Amino acid sequence: MNVKSLFQIDNEVVFLNHGSFGACPFSIMEEDQKWQKEMERQPVEFIGRKHAELLKFSREKLAEFVGAKADDLVYVSNATNALNMIAWSIDLKPGDEVLSTNLEYGASDRMWEFICQQKGAKYVKVEIQLPIENEESFLQAFLPHFNVKTKVLFLSMITSSTALYLPLHQLCKMANSKNIISIIDGAHVPGHIPINLETSPFDFFTGNCHKWMCAPKGTAFLYAKKEVQHMLKPLIISWGKEIDTINNTDFINDFEYLGTRDISGFLSVPACIQFLDQYIDLKARNQIHELLIFAQNGIETILKTPSILKIPQNKIQMYAHQLPANVDGKLLKQKLYDDYKIEIPVSNQNGKQYLRISVQIYNTKNEIDFFLDKLDILLKKCEIKSIN
Ligand SMILES: Cc1ncc(COP(=O)(O)O)c(C=O)c1O
Repeated sequence: MNVKSLFQIDNEVVFLNHGSFGACPFSIMEEDQKWQKEMERQPVEFIGRKHAELLKFSREKLAEFVGAKADDLVYVSNATNALNMIAWSIDLKPGDEVLSTNLEYGASDRMWEFICQQKGAKYVKVEIQLPIENEESFLQAFLPHFNVKTKVLFLSMITSSTALYLPLHQLCKMANSKNIISIIDGAHVPGHIPINLETSPFDFFTGNCHKWMCAPKGTAFLYAKKEVQHMLKPLIISWGKEIDTINNTDFINDFEYLGTRDISGFLSVPACIQFLDQYIDLKARNQIHELLIFAQNGIETILKTPSILKIPQNKIQMYAHQLPANVDGKLLKQKLYDDYKIEIPVSNQNGKQYLRISVQIYNTKNEIDFFLDKLDILLKKCEIKSIN
């Protein structure tokens, strides 16, 4: 079957950037609209009386999917929201330190810098040398930075610009043993790689459903281990436990009902899980991975810069490669789109430019061939050489 026809992606576009905002299939959009219609048919019944029960059902399905208990996670609009909810809640005192890396998502860096500045705390970014050799060397990079002031460890599980699946396990276990709070940005994780939050050493975790679970935009979750839930303070104060219609915990009561809003994306999550089971099963994932490896080899051959990959990547669906320094990455991205309708991101981090490809079930070998051919042409033509 033509899997691309399940998605709404414009046929004219070679879409190699699932990673940024995902892509929602027709069937899931219909599910989303089904819930919206249901809401408008009887808004009081839906929001006033059914809201909590419907969300509970959907939460249970998501919890099962990410290996958590249903009352340890709440739906939120996106990872940015969840991270802000967590970061503002942590009782940072002047002098405290938030330890992170130089590989984080730009908006998260901004958030920590802002919050630390407000609270007199310090945001410390450990410089990670790429490629990362192994889990041990990754862990070693942090050791000189742990001290009595370290209060929080903040890390992406899959990085944004560099598309690296980081080995967090040992590091977070060490943080646990030092009473350091671990906050994991798993924006790219759900639907991408298997996760079991309950057995993980992570205190707080957020995942986007609208990326790799193909959910409608504005669908994500915040997970907090039972022992740390009391630390969270809601940014939005609503009815809290006064709205308890189904014996929710304080955590669920404080974070689930945030006033009148569209919850149809949240309610569509069980349909997303079914969609993944049906169309992005193990066999499909192996095919996707083969295609990604093909793209990766082609990119390496064309760009000729050293690979930033060494650690196992658990078959993730993204790959990033550093552009040669004399290439104007912004122009390359623009030309790929303007001249050939190829949507692929180039981003800057630590003074380097990375081209990142995402492969999803709807991508074909022909598309990758087409992209590699055009990448080669654009680089060879030298029309994107910067003046330096
Ligand atoms: C690692 C990482 N964290 C956070 C985000 C923010 O996600 P959202 O815009 O859904 O809040 C992104 C978005 O691409 C990301 O890549």
